[in-house]
Amino acid sequence: MILLLGATGYIGQAFQSELEQRGEQFRTLSRSQVDYTRFQPLFEYLKANKPSFVINAAGYTGKPNVDACESAKADTLQGNTLFPQALANACAALDIPFGHVSSGCIFAGAWVDYGNGWVVEKDMTRSEFKAIAAKSPEKIRGFDESMTPNFSFRDQPCSFYSGTKALGEEAIEGVGKNYIWRLRIPFDEFDNHRNYLSKIQRYAKVYNNFNSLSHRGDYVKACLDCWFQKVPFGIYNVTNPGYISTAEVLEMIKDILKPNRKFEFWENDADFYATGAVAARSNCIMDSGKLLAAGINMQSVSSALHHALQAWKIES
Ligand SMILES: NC(=O)c1ccc[n+]([C@@H]2O[C@H](COP(=O)([O-])OP(=O)(O)OC[C@H]3O[C@@H](n4cnc5c(N)ncnc54)[C@H](OP(=O)(O)O)[C@@H]3O)[C@@H](O)[C@H]2O)c1
Repeated sequence: MILLLGATGYIGQAFQSELEQRGEQFRTLSRSQVDYTRFQPLFEYLKANKPSFVINAAGYTGKPNVDACESAKADTLQGNTLFPQALANACAALDIPFGHVSSGCIFAGAWVDYGNGWVVEKDMTRSEFKAIAAKSPEKIRGFDESMTPNFSFRDQPCSFYSGTKALGEEAIEGVGKNYIWRLRIPFDEFDNHRNYLSKIQRYAKVYNNFNSLSHRGDYVKACLDCWFQKVPFGIYNVTNPGYISTAEVLEMIKDILKPNRKFEFWENDADFYATGAVAARSNCIMDSGKLLAAGINMQSVSSALHHALQAWKIES
C-alpha cells in the first residue's frame, strides 16, 4: 500500500487521480487525521500501517504567492525543511522508501556560452542572453542534478520559500531510500488559480522571462514511473524538456484561446518589484536529461503547453 501525504493540495490531487487511474492501492493521510508533520505521530503511524512507499506532496507554499512565505517564516521552515527531515528519518528507521516533491525554484538563470565557455547567467532578461536564445539555443543549457542550488540561503539572494526548499533537499538527500522530484511552475488544461496558464491570463501585467515548466499530469506520471520502474533513488528534475519565455506562452494563448484582452509586460525588474512584490523570484532553466536517461520520457514543454491549451477547460 502506498501512502500519499498532502492529497488535499494542488499537486497531491494530481497524484491521487493518477493512482486511482492506475488502480493502485493507496491511502491518503491529512493533518486533520494525524499531524504527520511531527516525528512521533508520523513514526507511530508508519510503524502501524507499514506502507510500501510514501509520496510526500505536502509542504508550505505561500498563498496567494511566494511573498506570503516572507511573513510566515516559521511555518515555511517547518513545512519545507523540518517536516521532510522528520519524514526522511522516520522512513529510514523503518526502511520505507519515499518520494518528496521538491522544486526547481532553488536555481536562478541558466548556463550559457557567450563565446568564452560555459558560464551561469542569473539575469536572463539581458539582451545578450535573449539574442543567444533566439539565434543559438544550443548555447543555452539547464541546471542538472549534480549542480549546487544557486537560489538558496547558501547562495543569496533567494526567497525565503526557495531557501527552505533547498535546505529541505539537503536534509533528506541520501537519508534512507528516497526520490527528490523537482517540480517547476505547474500547469495543465484545467483552469485553476494555481495553474500557471490561468495565472498569466489573469495578471494585469506579466513578467517576461525564460523558464522550464512541469505539466502537472506529466509530472505525477513521471514520479510514479520512477517508483514502479525501479529507477535508482536520487534527485530528478521532473520538467518537460526544454524551456520557453513568457512571451512565447502568451503567443500560444493568443493563437489557441483567443482571449479578449491585451497583455502588457513589466518594463524591467525594478518596475515589477516597485509594485509590491516582496520576495525575489526564481526564473530558471532545468536539464531533465537524467530522467530521460533513466528511461522516463516526458513530452517537450512546447508540446505539453500546446496540448493543455487545445484541451483548455474553464473553471466552473
Ligand atoms: N504549486 C507549485 O507551484 C509548486 C511548485 C514547485 C514545488 N511545489 C511543491 O509541491 C508541494 C505541494 O504543493 P501544493 O502547491 O500542492 O501545495 P498546497 O496546495 O498548499 O497543498 C499542500 C498540502 O500539504 C499539506 N500540508 C502539510 N503541512 C502543511 C503546512 N504547514 N501548511 C499547509 N499545508 C500543509 C496540506 O494537506 P493536509 O492539511 O490535508 O495534510 C496541504 O493540502 C510543496 O512541497 C511545494 O513546495 C509546488
